[in-house]
Amino acid sequence: MDLSIIGSGYVGLVSGACFADVGHHVVCVDNNPQKIEALQAGHIPIYEPGLEEVIQRNVAAGRLRFTNSTEDGVDHSEVVFIAVPTPPQADGSVDLSYIERVARDIAAVLKPGQYRVVVDKSTVPVKTGDKVAETIKRYGQKGAEFDVVSNPEFLREGCAVSDLMKPDRIVVGSKSDRALALMQKLYQPFMAPILVTDINSAELIKHAANSFLALKISYINAVSAICEASGADVEKVADGIGMDKRIGRNFLNAGLGYGGSCFPKDIAAFIAISEQLGVPFTLLKEVQRINQSQRERFLKAMRDTLWILRDKKIAVWGLTFKGDTDDIRSSVSIDLIAELIKEGAHVTAYDPKGMDNVRNFKLIPEAKLVDSALEAAQGAEALVIATEWHEFAQVDLSHLKEAMASPMVFDGRNLLNPETMNHLGFHYRSIGRPGAGKG
Ligand code: UDX
Ligand code: UDX
Repeated sequence: MDLSIIGSGYVGLVSGACFADVGHHVVCVDNNPQKIEALQAGHIPIYEPGLEEVIQRNVAAGRLRFTNSTEDGVDHSEVVFIAVPTPPQADGSVDLSYIERVARDIAAVLKPGQYRVVVDKSTVPVKTGDKVAETIKRYGQKGAEFDVVSNPEFLREGCAVSDLMKPDRIVVGSKSDRALALMQKLYQPFMAPILVTDINSAELIKHAANSFLALKISYINAVSAICEASGADVEKVADGIGMDKRIGRNFLNAGLGYGGSCFPKDIAAFIAISEQLGVPFTLLKEVQRINQSQRERFLKAMRDTLWILRDKKIAVWGLTFKGDTDDIRSSVSIDLIAELIKEGAHVTAYDPKGMDNVRNFKLIPEAKLVDSALEAAQGAEALVIATEWHEFAQVDLSHLKEAMASPMVFDGRNLLNPETMNHLGFHYRSIGRPGAGKG
């Protein structure tokens, strides 16, 4: 099938590449000329494991190309995806101006008699599909034929390619049989269950799913605080409850809390949507509060041990919002570093993939960024592990101890083994595990 994706970011680019990989012909559209030039020249603007090979393979096969022109994309596709950002506003509600702009751009180039399915893949508040349809109708030419469909994306950064190629389910919200038939044909090669719903339910599924996952993380984080107070081990507790199939072990990893471009904004959006609808979802406010308190408890533990942070040399491993990505949006690590710097600490940090973005966006300019985990730890009085990069678990711990001025490790992602760390003579503190209080 021929399809186009408007917005070639983390979601749009990976989706486009994977659709091409199963044999469709895909045009990726973006309004950022530098991004399109880079993609046309074979440079991939984001780090996502496996993505580069998929893009190269499909560009070479003539199934994937890149353009700045919405008209080019819409002309050459039966199905047009929208994957532009839906950022939060100050009150937590969603800024839908990019979606509206794209709907108008599509309307401007839709030709009469040229049926198109317009699919919203961006995360949007319930009822946005109706607005998109109204907008295309209002600004489009007479006789333009289209249907609007909601098809939320559930990919996780860091494993987006495999999430897309092997989805648990595909959700399609549509009120048109014609559009639905095309969507089923499009997704047929993925051999995944397709859940067909109305548009409102599909839109709601995305917010409800992300909020539930965030709730699961806050739940185990609240349990981790109780473990610290009682001497229990949160990992064992997570294993014990996670072995119950009704609960499941995934997303029960205690740590510094969730960050990223989705959970913080989607939970805030779902709260705002529920309030607008007159049915406030107060449980989610508690999810947010627990998420925030997790990093505050961690900082307090650092202060309890190091006392005054001013002029202390602190190493931080990890800048991205999770491992295996270069994405630093709403990264807990960056917030934590900003707080350490505010209190006068000297921070040296390392991240395998996130440092270019930190430099480009001029975040935490006071922090010194270095080229390896051990270099960051050199002469440090304390080390903070802020992101769950696999690389950090591989560092030679005796070299780490030699490098540090005092061997004190605050592990915000429970990446290292407490027994090993204590045995090697580190002062080791992690989240919700025995020994956490020793500092
Ligand atoms: C996506 C979704 O679309 C968002 O709703 C979801 O909640 C998170 O994931 P993401 O792919 O992460 O967003 O955003 P980003 O990586 O910023 O990519 C968006 C792309 O759209 C950028 O390349 C930007 O240049 C492009 N864009 C933006 C357009 O092409 N047109 C616009 O009008 C605005
Ligand atoms: C999330 C959803 O998982 C995905 O379905 C949706 O499409 C977009 O939002 P993403 O934000 O890319 O994906 O990453 P995810 O793996 O969900 O992690 C989000 C945050 O939660 C990270 O900061 C991660 O460190 C944290 N996390 C995750 C935990 O603290 N504990 C866990 O057990 C899992």
